[in-house]
Amino acid sequence: MLLPNYQEAKKRTHRDVEIDHYQFDPALSHLGDGKTYYVKTYGCQMNEHDSENIRAMLEQLGFQPLPDDDYENADLVLLNTCSIRENAHNKAFGMLGRLKHLKAKKKDLIVGLCGCMAQEEGVVQEIMKRYRFVNFVFGTHNLHRLPFILKDALDAHQQNIEVFSEEGNIIEDVPVKRDHPYKAYVNIIYGCDKFCTYCIVPYTRGKQRSRRPLDIIHEVEQLVADGYQEVTLLGQNVNAYGKDFDFEYRMENLLEDVAKTNIPRVRFMTSHPWDFTDGMIDVIAKYENIMPSIHLPVQSGSDRILKLMGRRYTKEKYLTLFHKMKERIPRLAVSTDIIVGFPGETEEDFEETMKLIETCQFDNAFTFIFSPREGTPAAKMKDETLLSVKEDRLHRLNERVNHYFLKNNQKMVGSIVPVLVDGYNQSGKTSLFGYTDTNKLINFDGDASLIGKIVMVKVTNAKTWSLDGEYESERVG
Ligand code: SAH
Ligand code: SF4
Ligand code: F3S
Repeated sequence: MLLPNYQEAKKRTHRDVEIDHYQFDPALSHLGDGKTYYVKTYGCQMNEHDSENIRAMLEQLGFQPLPDDDYENADLVLLNTCSIRENAHNKAFGMLGRLKHLKAKKKDLIVGLCGCMAQEEGVVQEIMKRYRFVNFVFGTHNLHRLPFILKDALDAHQQNIEVFSEEGNIIEDVPVKRDHPYKAYVNIIYGCDKFCTYCIVPYTRGKQRSRRPLDIIHEVEQLVADGYQEVTLLGQNVNAYGKDFDFEYRMENLLEDVAKTNIPRVRFMTSHPWDFTDGMIDVIAKYENIMPSIHLPVQSGSDRILKLMGRRYTKEKYLTLFHKMKERIPRLAVSTDIIVGFPGETEEDFEETMKLIETCQFDNAFTFIFSPREGTPAAKMKDETLLSVKEDRLHRLNERVNHYFLKNNQKMVGSIVPVLVDGYNQSGKTSLFGYTDTNKLINFDGDASLIGKIVMVKVTNAKTWSLDGEYESERVG
């Protein structure tokens, strides 16, 4: 049993991160024979990608995916959890409640919990006290040990908890079963050292650690060879890529080298405004296959709140970067994240955020009410604003951001844009959906043969969250 420890998780050591390789013990390859699995994923793209690794490892053990995707029929249910806000927490605990009932009826059910919540001291205590039926728990730093942790739990017939608080080495060659046949997530940097005062990620994901350039390039080259059309380079702060190397190789170099693999589309997320360099802007502008779409979370438009958040930029610095990007990268779409109701946010602070919205007119925005996370500095800050006031701010903010989503979409009507076709949309077998280079969802009628290709589509109608279009031609250029 190894329990999470916040004091350890906070530390940033100068230990050199080494590269290890995933090793599978063939003696375990029948552990799951005849059994099915169900993985429920909460949280961000990083967690989604971790679940792709988890599924592949479970299948190495002989477990099979469920034909009907209904967790009630599974022999093993694994929750890959997220700690970012309270509602993510609540959802996972709600699911644990349902699993408790299920296990009462189905004694052999195996239940596991992993992901960011497993890194939280309080959560693990709760599982040990009130959710004894959970067979095993592992954290974000020892995902690759899933086969052993699972085996130990089954052998010992008791709860097995193994959570490392200090980040481990980088593990290459963990198997992956990708969700999507044309679009792939590729990790480039793990952890985060920014310690924004509201955020739990630096505690749950540990120290910033960059994967080696060649490991990333080889992964992308293999994806190209396998017919993939798009990669998204993942990290909590991708712009810090390479800062932990003892050689000069940064995000702009990586972006350029990934673009040169000739993968048709490159995306990356998330960018912290602090580390975004001019060099990156130049590379994005130079390569046609780096998509003109950047997620650049601003969080607040008030300098006072930005400071309390520990974001390390002012509104003016953000705007300077924003305008520079827009000037140099043609047709660039910028999306953002915003938190309202941070402790001490006044109406004037909020108005600053609203003003910023009028200036930036974002193409997309994810908006949240501040959620105190245990162990973070902001959770201890005095917060006297009523929830109803915060909800009202969120509502007003959403109205304005939605207004600009629609306005930006309307500007696209009549233009012909490249679209990577994902598949059929829900409305029927003639209607396809995909994403434009600027990351807008578009629906249009077309033939199944277009799925997985990049084609030109004429935008005919704009809605707030999507576009309608007509198929125009094969890809141009
Ligand atoms: N690494 C990314 C963000 C990851 S979390 C970045 O630095 O931008 C995604 C978003 O969740 C954040 O941008 C923030 O807007 C929101 N978020 C994080 N912690 C939060 C909290 N405690 N309460 C409310 N929203 C939060
Ligand atoms: Fe959290 Fe800030 Fe790191 Fe993003 S940069 S993951 S918001 S601490
Ligand atoms: Fe959630 Fe962890 Fe991602 S807290 S947002 S799953 S890094």
